[in-house]
Amino acid sequence: MLSCNLHARHQFHPPTQPHQEGRQQRTRRRASAPPAPPSANAEQFNVQPAELNQERGMPFLTGPAFYRPESGLSRDLSTLAAAVHKRRSGSLKVLDLMAGSGIRSARYMKQAGADVWCNDLDPRLRETQVMNLLCPDLEAKDQSSNEEALLSKAHILRPGGLNRDVWEWEQRGVGANIRVSQVDATRILTACFLNEDFYDVIDIDSFGSDSRFIGSSLDAVKHGGLLYLTSTDGFSAGGHRPARSLAAYGAFVRAGLPSSNENGLRMLIGVAVREGAVRGLKVTPVFSLYSFHGPVFRAMLRVTRSSQWPHKDYGFIGYCHVHGQTSKVPWKDLSGAVCTCCGLSKKGKPLSLSGPIWTGPLHDRDELQSIADEAAARGWQGYSFDDGSQWSQNKARELRSKKNGPQRLEDVLQVMLGEADERLKPGFMNMEYLGKHLMSYPPRDVLIAELRSKGFAASRSHLETKAFRTSATLQEIIAVCIGLGVEPRESSDVCKSITAP
Ligand SMILES: C[S@@+](CC[C@H](N)C(=O)[O-])C[C@H]1O[C@@H](n2cnc3c(N)ncnc32)[C@H](O)[C@@H]1O
Ligand SMILES: [Zn+2]
Repeated sequence: MLSCNLHARHQFHPPTQPHQEGRQQRTRRRASAPPAPPSANAEQFNVQPAELNQERGMPFLTGPAFYRPESGLSRDLSTLAAAVHKRRSGSLKVLDLMAGSGIRSARYMKQAGADVWCNDLDPRLRETQVMNLLCPDLEAKDQSSNEEALLSKAHILRPGGLNRDVWEWEQRGVGANIRVSQVDATRILTACFLNEDFYDVIDIDSFGSDSRFIGSSLDAVKHGGLLYLTSTDGFSAGGHRPARSLAAYGAFVRAGLPSSNENGLRMLIGVAVREGAVRGLKVTPVFSLYSFHGPVFRAMLRVTRSSQWPHKDYGFIGYCHVHGQTSKVPWKDLSGAVCTCCGLSKKGKPLSLSGPIWTGPLHDRDELQSIADEAAARGWQGYSFDDGSQWSQNKARELRSKKNGPQRLEDVLQVMLGEADERLKPGFMNMEYLGKHLMSYPPRDVLIAELRSKGFAASRSHLETKAFRTSATLQEIIAVCIGLGVEPRESSDVCKSITAP
């Protein structure tokens, strides 16, 4: 009897997850939380009613899972991308490999109309996942008879190559096909490849710089499908664990760079792009998302069949410590990589080189526009966890106070759309940096507008509030600032080179 299996207990020793301890956060019952599920259900599934939560109006239980409300933004974006994919392709099979509570699976199913395979290695999470996927509405008062009926429809599968149970059932109401399992992610991916069971979206919400799933996920994603990757290794992104970043991403990034967090995104994208190229696949970013909590680096990637991989956007980024500029450095120019950004020196200063990483655009403008349109059509704005309660208002205030880039869905999408200009150089410049050359500096948005009016690409950065991105050189930026009436510093060589006849 399947319902008996819900009570089964397994000996489980979780794998070592270096960031988990620090990131673990207890959810709390909020003053205005929706009513708890009926006690019979709570007992049956051994979940605490107090763990009931919501995202974009969808109630769910967190149970013993790792869950962060801050990551709701990343779930908003992936749910929207999945919904857009389904509308275009007519198909949406999602493999959520590190599902935690199953919140992503439930959102993909209920908010994007997906068939989902919800998996997490930790068997303690199964009951919570089943509840979140099984109950059409956790708030409904009379669930017990529905659940029994639904559970009686579930059956146990053993897909070829797996020696663990996979539960499968047809979800009443939405007509979705649902699977739940507790298997190592790589085993599932390999089994899917061998069984030719391919997925429209594969979501891997991993900890640290665990990149071993990337190759096998490329083998299991449909051509034309999406791969959603995560890293939480801020030390590697910051250049403080070069041996680790070489092992995980095949990339060496330098320490002490202002846009090191952007390099974290570029390392993650870069390894997927190259692994794709090995397989005759073209991998390109739909969007990239940095979140300062964690930190968390995420990339939603489109995977298409093509012998033409974007090799010109896979290389090195040079940083000039003298002029604070980043530039793309092609492979053939590595030995002579010097700063030419200001035209001050014939010889130029040697650049700090990081790579090989992704040096192309962080986002695809058309794909992002479709995601933004989908969000607008649904009326999705602000914070995914906002239910008007005091708790959610406090949480929103806490996020805003960090001042590390936009947080509200519509603001993030707007900044990303600006960042999607492929003429932009990698990296960003902090406004304060301009103070090295100028007596003051114009407001960020005024500078961006003026750079654009002069024909340069310019945008905000979703990684840093007080920063901008542009295609202009430092010399050109300074000239634009002087044109806006800002006084140059006498000590600045760059300024002298501009004002000199
Ligand atoms: C960041 S949490 C997932 C959070 C969840 N996706 C969400 O959005 O709330 C990472 C999860 O990966 C699981 N995990 C770690 N290693 C795994 C592996 N090799 N295979 C499958 N799951 C794994 C952990 O048990 C943990 O629940
Ligand atoms: Zn320079």
